[in-house]
Amino acid sequence: MNACHAATDLGGTQHRTPWSPPVMSGYATNRRPSSAFDNLRSNDAPPGTSDAWCEVIRRATRVAATEATTCLQGESGTGKEVIARFIHERSPRRRGPFIAINCAALPEQLLESELFGFERGAFTGAQQSKPGQIELAAGGVLFLDEVTEMTPAAQAKFLRVLQEREFLRLGGTRPVRINVPVLAATNRNLKDSVSRGHFRCAPLYRLNVFDIRIPPLRERRDDILLLAAGFLREFCGATSGLTPQASEALCRHDWPGNVRELRNVLERAAIVCEGPFIDTDDLSLAVREDRPQLSSTDLGDLERQAIEQVMREVDGNKVKAAKRLGITRMQLYTRLRKLGLQGA
Ligand SMILES: Nc1ncnc2c1ncn2[C@@H]1O[C@H](COP(=O)(O)OP(=O)(O)OP(=O)(O)O)[C@@H](O)[C@H]1O
Ligand SMILES: [Mg+2]
Repeated sequence: MNACHAATDLGGTQHRTPWSPPVMSGYATNRRPSSAFDNLRSNDAPPGTSDAWCEVIRRATRVAATEATTCLQGESGTGKEVIARFIHERSPRRRGPFIAINCAALPEQLLESELFGFERGAFTGAQQSKPGQIELAAGGVLFLDEVTEMTPAAQAKFLRVLQEREFLRLGGTRPVRINVPVLAATNRNLKDSVSRGHFRCAPLYRLNVFDIRIPPLRERRDDILLLAAGFLREFCGATSGLTPQASEALCRHDWPGNVRELRNVLERAAIVCEGPFIDTDDLSLAVREDRPQLSSTDLGDLERQAIEQVMREVDGNKVKAAKRLGITRMQLYTRLRKLGLQGA
């Protein structure tokens, strides 16, 4: 088992990428990286040259110099934790701990006591006081993963932390002051979560001081082969690359599981591949089941379905839709008008 597989899953998310910092154990990570890693990483951003990815890196670099509460939004597997670690590495707090808590993985009571700590006698079994992860993050950053899964009670308390920069340990009466920037991540759309009642409104606006949207891999197709090359270096012993057909298949695939899926596909391929090059047969690319299949052979219908589908996938953004469809924005407007889809 190599270090990439040594992840533990106690509420924390720990993975290693070709560039990422050493993995810490448990759900909170507070070990200082080694200086060898420091040198290696100092100029490294997570790989990608697409416009969408460069924008992510630009925003992440900019916010790293500040103490602003930052929310990373993106589908599962897009690299939210990768970017959170990058922000930490680029921040003046890089020598301090990176404390990661997965809010979805801990039950309410445990989440509160982990976050806020407790005083002796706060509950049965609390035989001595214990600082919470928020206190332990002092000098570093606090990464709250899947933040929309926090219970309303924990959200209300956490709001106070964000607002006042102070909190009470469970069973405590003396406010503890902290000064830790918070990075939060979610794969839900925060606005949707609020409107569906999953998340209280106030923390939303506190979390959204600065937001970074991490694009799905299908919106940064230019990066697929670059990322693939990195994973192949990581996984391949004898195998030295991809056949042109395999490269094409990777570029065509929709990657509903994003970079994580790409990594898994290549790890599997590296195991099954017997020749010097990974071929399409070695790649078990799952077919996206939730993608509607075209249901007509009439060209007009096909055009309408394709445009409707792409518009849905890009949330109605016409610039992106035109790019995905390989036409200009003006051509898209003309077609939308012709098909009576102006409101799409
Ligand atoms: N730019 C990148 N370069 C290298 N590896 C990456 C990159 N982005 C993501 N990965 C890898 O993809 C996997 C998923 O990344 P990460 O855990 O950061 O995603 P996530 O958005 O936090 O996912 P989830 O919402 O499921 O927690 C990890 O194995 C990570 O190492
Ligand atoms: Mg994550």
